[in-house]
Amino acid sequence: MNDAKEEIRARLPVEDVISQYIELKRAGRTLKGRSPWGVDKTPSFMVSPEKGIWHDFSANKGGDIFTFVMEVEGITFKEALEKLAAQAGVDISRYSGGDARLAKRKARAREALELATKYYQYCLSKSRKVAEYVFYKRNLNRGTVKEFRIGYSPKEGKACKKFLLSRGFSESELKDAGLLNRFGGDMFRGRMMVPFIDTTGNVIGYTARVLDKSEPKYLNTQDTLLFNKSRFIFGLAQAKDAIRKSGFVVIVEGNMDVISSHQAGVKEAVATSGTAMTEQHLKALSRLTDDIRLAYDGDEAGVKATERAIMMAGDLGINLTVISDYQGAKDPDELIQRGAEFWCKAVEERKPAVEWLLDKYEEKVDLRTGFGKREYSDIALRLLGYVKDKVERAHYEELVAERLDVSREDLHEKADDLKKKLLAKPKRRLKDVKTNATSDKVAGLEDNLLAIMIYGGVDTPLELEMPEDETKLDELELVFDNLYKKYTKAELEREVKDLCAALKKETTKSEIEVLKSELEADDLKPEREKEILKKIYELQKSKK
Ligand code: UTP
Ligand code: MN
Repeated sequence: MNDAKEEIRARLPVEDVISQYIELKRAGRTLKGRSPWGVDKTPSFMVSPEKGIWHDFSANKGGDIFTFVMEVEGITFKEALEKLAAQAGVDISRYSGGDARLAKRKARAREALELATKYYQYCLSKSRKVAEYVFYKRNLNRGTVKEFRIGYSPKEGKACKKFLLSRGFSESELKDAGLLNRFGGDMFRGRMMVPFIDTTGNVIGYTARVLDKSEPKYLNTQDTLLFNKSRFIFGLAQAKDAIRKSGFVVIVEGNMDVISSHQAGVKEAVATSGTAMTEQHLKALSRLTDDIRLAYDGDEAGVKATERAIMMAGDLGINLTVISDYQGAKDPDELIQRGAEFWCKAVEERKPAVEWLLDKYEEKVDLRTGFGKREYSDIALRLLGYVKDKVERAHYEELVAERLDVSREDLHEKADDLKKKLLAKPKRRLKDVKTNATSDKVAGLEDNLLAIMIYGGVDTPLELEMPEDETKLDELELVFDNLYKKYTKAELEREVKDLCAALKKETTKSEIEVLKSELEADDLKPEREKEILKKIYELQKSKK
């Protein structure tokens, strides 16, 4: 496996891999860019082509091309390896022992899907009836149909299977690809075929729509060796350049909404396919941009899904905005059919998630009654808890108070009561995020210290573990070159002192957080509680 890694590394320059995701500018021997995690105010992402590594100073992460792709796409090492191997044209099945057979199966499934897609495209070009549906009923143009590789699966029970068998594929290979139903016939029959294309450009499955009113409307590939619906983001392959350039993404509900949106010029649209949004989807998108706009359908199901997504995003510390003004149209596709310009405008006129939710609840409750007011204020205050920015929160408080026809002081009083209740049982999720942030900080400080120790030759009083792997050492050299190269020995010593102090503070902080989380256990014994409180008190004292 290491040989495969080396071979891929040798063929893919680090700057080429990374510039598929972010724009890099040369700055001396290194390249600079903005953090793909969107946490920097000035470019803080460095790449060293000579060493083949990267380091993100704002997010405290770094490594080689494999770790980069893992982090930015939210995938496992194995997946990153496969993806980069495909880009480099390296056949990893030659290198790995145990995985060789699986890799081979995947490769054959990919080949089968590629050929099937071509076959479906050909069938579309041969049928007038289908062309009518695609080009006139759905209003797609040739460019769009080509870009999304839309096709048609013939009605005959085994047409596609017969074709692929005649081209040397076996029955089990077609099964791996998800092309067969449980009776061994074609999975997709008489449907408009829309391929699922991954960000490497491979077809990994389909969503297939009937041309009439029959059921089910859509048939989707089930999870296979290649396709995982909880991770797959429909349209990302076609949208990622636009998202990177304009810095936002629009999540719509339907695959056809994605396709229409692209055709209408909003190429930042994506969707989850055949499943509700998962944390994996949200996390992957939040790594590409922090401007995530939700544009689900205006019906009840769409509103429910929007609420769910907002709560999930809140737990993950991600901010969303909501696009909801479809002027009575049911979904983006329908709005676009009325005029692309309406959709372009809607995408700009988004609402912060909290505001959208407040508006929704206002519609639901009767604010003229005392009961309605209480219900509304309950929900509103809970929502405001998600707003971190003080100025922004004050703005919403004003809004809520006005709607309730009470003063902000009254509202505050209620908020305090509510806070006490919430503090008694804090949400685990929100806290976990915080704890992680602290340990990230610790790791970052440790990196800086190590860099000075190894490349600046200044000792530290703290005992730190010396990294052994080459990539990490290279990364630390990059840290040193970028931060401390011009420092004198005295300046380095002073920095070491400061870093040690900061590190001690952060470590104490994270110890306190761990103790605090222990306090929340339901079955905590009183003696243990006393002990923990005493420890926290001592740690807090030592921090000062
Ligand atoms: P919609 O019914 O809103 O589909 O379902 P749509 O995109 O507007 O479809 P058109 O415009 O009638 O062609 C939204 C999404 O739900 C999933 C699909 O992913 C679809 O894009 N879905 C819907 C299914 O998986 N199966 C179904 O039978 C229906
Ligand atoms: Mn639709």
